[in-house]
Amino acid sequence: MKSSALRTRFLQFFARHGHTIVPSSSLVPAHDPTLLFTNSGMVQFKDVFLGKEQRPYTRATSSQRSVRAGGKHNDLENVGYTARHHTFFEMLGNFSFGDYFKRAAIGYAWQFLTEELGLPKERLWVTVYHDDEEAAGIWLDEIGVDPARFTRINTADNFWQMGDTGPCGPCSEIFYDHGPDVAGGPPGSAEADGDRYIEIWNLVFMQFNRDEQGVLHPLPRPSVDTGMGLERIAAILQGVHSNYEIDLFRDLIAAAQRHTGAPDPTSQSLRVIADHIRACAFLVVDGIVPGNEGRGYVLRRIIRRAIRHGYRLGQKQPFFYRLVEDLVAVMGEAYPELVAAQERVKAVLLQEEERFAETLEHGLAVLDEALRLNAEHLSGEVIFRLADTYGFPVDLTADIARERGATLDREGFERAMTQQRERARAASRFTAHSGVDYDGAVTTFVGYDTLQESSVVQALYHEGTPVPRLEAGQEGTVVLDRTPFYAESGGQVGDRGQLEGETGCFAVVDTQKIQAQVFGHQGRMLEGAFTVGAPVLGRVDETARQQAALNHSATHLLHAALRAVLGSHVAQRGSLVDAQRTRFDFSHGESLSAEQMQAVETLVNDEIRRNVPVSIRTMNYDEALRQGAMALFGEKYGAEVRVIGMGAFSTELCGGTHVIRTGDIGLFRLVAQSGVAAGTRRVEGVTGAAALIWTQQEQRQLYDLAQRLHATPQEAPKRLQQLLEQGQGRERELSRLKAQFAARAGVALLDQAKVVAGVRVLATSLPDTDAKGLREAWDALKGQADSAVIALATVQEGRVAVLVGVTPDLIARVKAGELVSYLAQQVGGKGGGRPDLAQAGGTRPEALSVALASVLPWVSARLQGLSE
Ligand code: ALA
Repeated sequence: MKSSALRTRFLQFFARHGHTIVPSSSLVPAHDPTLLFTNSGMVQFKDVFLGKEQRPYTRATSSQRSVRAGGKHNDLENVGYTARHHTFFEMLGNFSFGDYFKRAAIGYAWQFLTEELGLPKERLWVTVYHDDEEAAGIWLDEIGVDPARFTRINTADNFWQMGDTGPCGPCSEIFYDHGPDVAGGPPGSAEADGDRYIEIWNLVFMQFNRDEQGVLHPLPRPSVDTGMGLERIAAILQGVHSNYEIDLFRDLIAAAQRHTGAPDPTSQSLRVIADHIRACAFLVVDGIVPGNEGRGYVLRRIIRRAIRHGYRLGQKQPFFYRLVEDLVAVMGEAYPELVAAQERVKAVLLQEEERFAETLEHGLAVLDEALRLNAEHLSGEVIFRLADTYGFPVDLTADIARERGATLDREGFERAMTQQRERARAASRFTAHSGVDYDGAVTTFVGYDTLQESSVVQALYHEGTPVPRLEAGQEGTVVLDRTPFYAESGGQVGDRGQLEGETGCFAVVDTQKIQAQVFGHQGRMLEGAFTVGAPVLGRVDETARQQAALNHSATHLLHAALRAVLGSHVAQRGSLVDAQRTRFDFSHGESLSAEQMQAVETLVNDEIRRNVPVSIRTMNYDEALRQGAMALFGEKYGAEVRVIGMGAFSTELCGGTHVIRTGDIGLFRLVAQSGVAAGTRRVEGVTGAAALIWTQQEQRQLYDLAQRLHATPQEAPKRLQQLLEQGQGRERELSRLKAQFAARAGVALLDQAKVVAGVRVLATSLPDTDAKGLREAWDALKGQADSAVIALATVQEGRVAVLVGVTPDLIARVKAGELVSYLAQQVGGKGGGRPDLAQAGGTRPEALSVALASVLPWVSARLQGLSE
């Protein structure tokens, strides 16, 4: 029974029993902020159960589109790994609003399954909530369920609730036993999670409303809410075990295979993709777009997981959006809203695919590297970096880790997330704009000239509020009258270091401006205590500052070099300079070629070797512009500006800290580029010792590679080329041999040909060859038979190739092209050709033997039809 027929059967059955058929509601629950998505059929009736809404009926039935991802009911991480979990599914349900209760609900369910659908009773298993004597009595005494297939369950499994609050009640579940060939035990046993016993129908006896405190209040009238997964029951009726083998999914999986080019039609990844396209398309239909929070973020996570699985199958181009058309073909009839929205859905998915493509590749490289260093465990820090920098949702990282058999430090990740949130909060608490409660003296910055300075504590803050004293162990912010610490600005991070006083010592982890001219030293009291008015000595971490200076000066050279190489349209869009690297965003439409990257790197290094002094002058803004200084659009400058010059090559307005001569930078390497937004590129570079380390690492990789090729690094490219050519030669040789082999096999088969009206008809499949082999086999065969129609086929990587050849004497009566189209149509493909020779391809190997068997009758009909 097709899924669509089943859907109708269910609704009709309950309609016959006085239920009103109600259409599926949106996946976004109307006016219900407590719920992420519609996760079952009862959601649209929530207020009816609660007695807050009246409807003209007390019995309803529906087939509800539902999503279980990211909310209380979340199956996302199971999808692809079990036969029965989905992010999106259809729930068939019948509902009673204070009308019938347990007896009728149980009776209808049993009647539908055993009479209407004819399922054998001995395949069914029933559970009830442990203290629900009433339901147990109905099942055992009235329905007559075998006590050996009946379990009382005292866990939450048999107490259903929509969300943390809302209607809920004990439930009774019906399971189907897929037989001993499938692993798993009956409900309630230790092996219940296996796929053998599958829950197909849940009958909830709605009795309570749970409030925010968790207290259960009786509903005005006891009601019934039931849910049966359409995909699960379809699997049973279609005689398959996995939901992914039912009609609805077969076409989607074939489409996923087509669009990803995956060789193996049984790949788990294809199932994931087929599942996810349903969820994603319908979420977009219902108005959700990918985003960074709430429903949009769940959608984004599902799309990204699908894209990653495509990538795993070798598809690096956008493909997911193409599946929308295939989905429309499968589900459009039942869901006209999908048909109407299909263009929009495609556009939204494509955009998300394009957005994720670049970071996916980088993120996977980071992940590979982490797993290379430790194959068993992913640290919280790596998971965090993947999420923060590469947009890998944790469940995506978890999915990959699971494939590779590695565990995940989820707690470490949570800690890193919390720390980031705290940093963000601390930063937002202490920015120039947040109006910190401070009216003391402004800070005099002396850090251009010195990295140590004595000063006096002006104010202390703990958790954002002024305090007279900071104690050992406490985190807080210190304001000084004079400071050598650079506060974050112009892309350069704030300095770190220490504040030392007679009464204590404070570690500075960051310096931020808390008002336009007031510097906040943020960190932690290491020992002792500080009070307002105490004298302290500030010491900046010299190495970190020096490295930041190298990177900052290199950034100016980089900016000028990018303009020289790419053109004057290059304008700075943002930068981040810290002790590790420089990251520079700029306006430019396309990615840089290898040559351009190299030219930029060379120019910067030329300027480094020129070793010119870095000049720092303070002048009037207009004067600076007249001298050609680059000012940043959107940046605020005072009347007096600081102008940094590096010979004739670079002049920029900048408040940052710099090297004394360009030669101090030592070496500059461009290590990465990426796209940040349309028209904006990002490059990253390293300097000094970091650049040397980077270069050495690259060299080590080259040496490793050469060693594996048994060559010197100089010989390596040639050696690799040889190996590739050798491989290609072998490939060609192999395919020639296979073709020869096929030809021989074909000739041998000619004996098996049937003779119809003096014509030899052969239809057979040749093992282990390809379209070319079929052609050779035909070439060998046609010389051997003077009057023959020959159909040859083979299956390779899940695709069928078919060839039809007709000897010249017959072409007036039998056209090869017609026969091949007839066959192609049966194996899910298209084809054509000349009257004597035609070829076709197809996607349904399982239909091949039937198709070959149809050749003889088809040819006989032609031969006889024409002779009559
Ligand atoms: N609302 C119930 C469920 O989803 C029927 O299982």
